[in-house]
Amino acid sequence: MTRRNDSFKGDFSEHRMTNAELINSRRVINGVDDGLMQVSPLKHPWAREIYKNMQRNNWVAEEVSFQKDKEQWEAGELNEQEKAAFMRALAFASNLDGLLVNSLSEVIKPHITSPEISLALSRQIYEETLHVDSYSVMIEAVGFEPEEVYGLYRRDKGLYYKNKRVLESMYKIAIPGFTTESVENSKLFLEACTTNYIFEGIFFYSAFLIFLNFGRHNKMPGSKEMIQFINRDEDLHVMLFVKIINTIKEEAPELWTPEVRATFRKNIMDAIEMEIDWGISCIGDGILGLTPQTIRQYLEFIGDIRLQAIGLEKAYNSSNPYLWLDELTQGNMIEVNFFEGTVREYQSGSLEW
Ligand SMILES: [Fe+2]
Ligand SMILES: [Fe+2]
Repeated sequence: MTRRNDSFKGDFSEHRMTNAELINSRRVINGVDDGLMQVSPLKHPWAREIYKNMQRNNWVAEEVSFQKDKEQWEAGELNEQEKAAFMRALAFASNLDGLLVNSLSEVIKPHITSPEISLALSRQIYEETLHVDSYSVMIEAVGFEPEEVYGLYRRDKGLYYKNKRVLESMYKIAIPGFTTESVENSKLFLEACTTNYIFEGIFFYSAFLIFLNFGRHNKMPGSKEMIQFINRDEDLHVMLFVKIINTIKEEAPELWTPEVRATFRKNIMDAIEMEIDWGISCIGDGILGLTPQTIRQYLEFIGDIRLQAIGLEKAYNSSNPYLWLDELTQGNMIEVNFFEGTVREYQSGSLEW
């Protein structure tokens, strides 16, 4: 295996690999990588396709107006319980996007040896910074006290432990000198990819739901619009990780043992329980049509989609209790379209599909 920083060690030799040999030996992990990002021809065309769709989703936070949100917040149009739900959802979502910038660049990307996947991941990291920035634009525009949002985990035990579990699960492989060369370490890396998949495909979903539900009731419309942009980005991030996980499985089937499958299934189901607890802690006994029961049903519905997308048996058989969400997200949490080969058309700077 040639590692990125080994390519130019030693003297020139004409007996290096040909381009065709290079492409043919390309792997998601543990492949040959000369570090020069020679994307064409593609070994993993889906990664470039996702990258191109990411480009079509361009947006910046300044496109969103928070004027109405500011007026509504100041005029007390949200009651105390609604305000608390909004703040908790915002606090965790903003914490998680910040964490993703770091974990994707420090824990995941260094081990990827396919340049087209690195290309898509780099764009994903940029989009996470965009999300981090958009929360700060929103905080400034609505006039929230930044400490109230960002620092909630320092005052709130539930949020502190959620962040702690998230961080610990991701940074398990962030050990100096860690490589994916052994089968055991490759399994740990695959687990880290599944952890990231859980972050983006499960842990945002109570927050997204709460913001979109406010918007459905004409409350905090700017925030709702911003979340629609973020949700659309996250949808492609989830798709990218489904493909990364499934392609690693194809390229190295020895990693996909019954034990690994059982561990990943349990990780996803534990995450669903954790997200249900979190969602309920945000809404209390219920706000604006969201109840603890329907939050559970909804997250179980998401859980089955996530399990099945990476080839694991579904666990819940719950249906989506919030059909109105499809209208606000174009059903974009479902990767089905992608796997059927039809890619939805996105438009730059607009939420009109
Ligand atoms: Fe994000
Ligand atoms: Fe993301």
